[in-house]
Amino acid sequence: MTDMHKRELAAGVKVPLVGFGTYLIPNDKVAPAVEDALAAGYRHVDTAEVYENERGVGEGLRRGMRQAGLDRGDVFVTTKLWPLARERTKTAEEAVRSFDESLDRLGLEQIDLYLIHATFGREQRLEQWQGLVEAYETGKARAIGVSNFNAAHIDELIEAGLPVPHVNQIELHPWSQKPELVSYLNQKGITPVAYSSLAPLSTWRTAPGHASGKTQEMRAEGERSDSPFKKLAAKYGVTEAQLLLRWGVQNGYPVLPKSTNPVRMRENLDVFSFRIDDADMDDIRGMDRGAGLAWGEVDPTTHG
Ligand SMILES: NC(=O)c1ccc[n+]([C@@H]2O[C@H](COP(=O)([O-])OP(=O)(O)OC[C@H]3O[C@@H](n4cnc5c(N)ncnc54)[C@H](OP(=O)(O)O)[C@@H]3O)[C@@H](O)[C@H]2O)c1
Repeated sequence: MTDMHKRELAAGVKVPLVGFGTYLIPNDKVAPAVEDALAAGYRHVDTAEVYENERGVGEGLRRGMRQAGLDRGDVFVTTKLWPLARERTKTAEEAVRSFDESLDRLGLEQIDLYLIHATFGREQRLEQWQGLVEAYETGKARAIGVSNFNAAHIDELIEAGLPVPHVNQIELHPWSQKPELVSYLNQKGITPVAYSSLAPLSTWRTAPGHASGKTQEMRAEGERSDSPFKKLAAKYGVTEAQLLLRWGVQNGYPVLPKSTNPVRMRENLDVFSFRIDDADMDDIRGMDRGAGLAWGEVDPTTHG
């Protein structure tokens, strides 16, 4: 991936515009998936403490890097702090300990981007953000950020005199565009990283046990031959997945498509050879439905 296909974070580090998501890939299956992803050309892998697959991701990174002849500096790795420990939220000290445990499971000495995964109350956010700032100051995290935070959550950090996050990882796709939050993030120099970019697809999270907030109606909508994304994909001679991912990168959002299918992995990386024209971008702007689908009933940017 060339520098043209990366976005520089406020911390000065560059994040590839297309990364590989690993949510719902179990620990014993994720190493070959990460290996395939690196072989296909991915240079960013996204995991999290709560995905319980960091060991497998680490193994896949080591094997994939060896096979592709890559150095550690060629690959960008994101992981996330799970804010809860049993029944309560973690303290700043526990956040630092969780960070070290993630490093250990991944078998890495440094994480490129470390995020607080979600919000569970004001005290939690302030405490844990101080822990992440500490990880950043030691140099063991090259950049830090949050996920599923809204503007008020971030304002609290800034008003407490703490550093501004480099990233907010949020659900972003044509059905969940969050224009006000994105504009706030851009104003503050915080990079919005998009997750669940493929949510409008009829094939999104259809495997047994892969729950989401998608209704049967939404699923049926995606299968219709006159669905707007099918029409647009046909117009540009690409797949619906490529169209949805292109929408993200064209807005400047690094995206994180997950697939365990090597053909889809390659397809999802191939989003730089076409451009969605301005009129179609305007039409897509009108398709926003508000809250996302990835967290089921919960809207993680407004709770807590
Ligand atoms: N911070 C957070 O709270 C949060 C929340 C959700 C996700 N994330 C991160 O973002 C990543 C991506 O989000 P996601 O996993 O929700 O969903 P996604 O990447 O938008 O979509 C994945 C789903 O789409 C299918 N798919 C992938 N490529 C396809 C293609 N080319 N054609 C048709 N179907 C395709 C996959 O099935 P197959 O695997 O069978 O191909 C899977 O069911 C996650 O893996 C995770 O790393 C973060």
